[in-house]
Amino acid sequence: MSLNLKDEINKRRTFGIISHPDAGKTTLTEKLLLFGGAIQIAGAVKAKKKTKHATSDFMEIEKQRGISVASSIMGFCYKKVNINLVDTPGHQDFCEDTYRTLTAVDSVIMVIDSAKGVETQTYKLLDVCRMRNTPVITFVNKLDREGHDPVDLLDEIEEKLSINVCPMSWPIGRGQAFQGVYSIFDKQLYLFKPHEKQGASQTAKKIDNLNDPRLNEIIGDDAAEELRNDIDLVTGVYPEFNIDDYLSGKVTPIFFGSALNNFGVKELLDCFIQISPAPLARQTISREVTPFEDKFSGFIFKIHANIDPKHRDRIAFLRICSGEFQRNKKILHVRTGKLVRYGSPTAFMAREKSVIETAYAGDIIGLHDTGNLKIGDTLTEGEDLKFKGIPNFSPELFRIVVNLNPLKTKQLEKGLKQLCEEGVAQLFTRPYDTKKIVGTVGALQFEVIQYRLKHEYGAECRFDTLNFFKACWITSEDEKVLYDFVKTHPRQIADDRDEKTVFLAETQWSLDREISENSNILFKFTSED
Ligand code: G4P
Repeated sequence: MSLNLKDEINKRRTFGIISHPDAGKTTLTEKLLLFGGAIQIAGAVKAKKKTKHATSDFMEIEKQRGISVASSIMGFCYKKVNINLVDTPGHQDFCEDTYRTLTAVDSVIMVIDSAKGVETQTYKLLDVCRMRNTPVITFVNKLDREGHDPVDLLDEIEEKLSINVCPMSWPIGRGQAFQGVYSIFDKQLYLFKPHEKQGASQTAKKIDNLNDPRLNEIIGDDAAEELRNDIDLVTGVYPEFNIDDYLSGKVTPIFFGSALNNFGVKELLDCFIQISPAPLARQTISREVTPFEDKFSGFIFKIHANIDPKHRDRIAFLRICSGEFQRNKKILHVRTGKLVRYGSPTAFMAREKSVIETAYAGDIIGLHDTGNLKIGDTLTEGEDLKFKGIPNFSPELFRIVVNLNPLKTKQLEKGLKQLCEEGVAQLFTRPYDTKKIVGTVGALQFEVIQYRLKHEYGAECRFDTLNFFKACWITSEDEKVLYDFVKTHPRQIADDRDEKTVFLAETQWSLDREISENSNILFKFTSED
């Protein structure tokens, strides 16, 4: 590989932000984009989100699908580093898409509300990160509000998320008394001035030694004393930052700040570009693919339908895993064995969609697709590869599809299949009664499916509730054991879209019982082997 190409790949950072709704993900995204010059005014991202939540009208959902294509990937350049921020929708439209998006990033920033601590969706998302040991940086947000004691917060993160923490900065006071942070990382004191536009020019004072009397002059005797005690405690309890522990996902460096006030965001970004990983190697079924290989390869992790229902074309999001992608060059679509060529691949720099000539490992590009690509598909320069780590995750809500117009059965089936290929939901078939079961992570998905089936496919359906809470992919080395299990649980057995067998569990209790009584059967919460 040429030096130039190596440089291009090394200066890329592809990451996502995860958080529970309202912790401050949108606000932080916006501040990061401001630093990267990708947007000029604060409020641009927010404004789009506002329209999104202002209404549940389905025309709005349609419009939002257009917007969310543009905001799915936000590319920007900061200090000569090319950053790709991949959006992980985390609101009421939370779905499996969110999980799968995390397979396309190399690291994440986790935002936690200092007053709320670790919340459910953060927990779920971090679980997915842990499957691949994705490195995580934590930003504890809203320090300008009364929040939990920082030591308690760190304990909570360690306990609930099973990850070690390493504070990189430490807050001085909180809420009304919040004065700023002391950066343990670069030994600077960053002062917070509420209601003032902070950012690049925020006040930083170098304090190498915390016994320096200047500290008392700047933040007052009491706060200085408390900070000294806190730092003493913190540096005694937590080990020094070790990049390898961060890169292997064992330790999360912690920053404190206030996204709304743009406080602590620049330090976060500066540290992020220093420590976060450049494009990482990826596992395929046959071998590991490193980003610096000469030949191009990548996988599809997300598919977005055209907003215009009359045009069935879609945008498929490709994460490039190795080499260089070139416009119009013939590449292999491994699943079908066909050679394909893309004439208008798009990149998403500075929130603008533009056609690109080349893209490199680490980049995410949009490919115009007419229905050939599926989530999880691999594209290569000829090698027969299949990337791992793009599994289906267990849905949490299940409903039976009831066809309301028998004359449109074909349309219904086609629509369901295509929407599920887009990752809107998962489709299962129950051999016992040949019923189709749709599984999702969020309830809104059912409404979206109904609406889109009607408007895009002319099919009408109703969903009847099913009392299942999880789908487990089941396998066994002993075929007879599996066969017997399937035979004795007909109502709870279904096939996924790849005809893999799943067990639909009714409660945690009954699932635990089945697991303990069937030690020869492996129950997995994702579809991957
Ligand atoms: P999300 O994307 O994770 O859902 O969160 P978002 O950024 O939308 O932030 C949720 C709310 O928290 C917003 O208030 C936002 O202004 C506020 N917020 C974000 N960061 C901070 C912070 O550092 N300090 C304080 N005090 N608040 C913060 P909202 O009332 O829902 O919206 P808005 O009317 O303020 O726009």
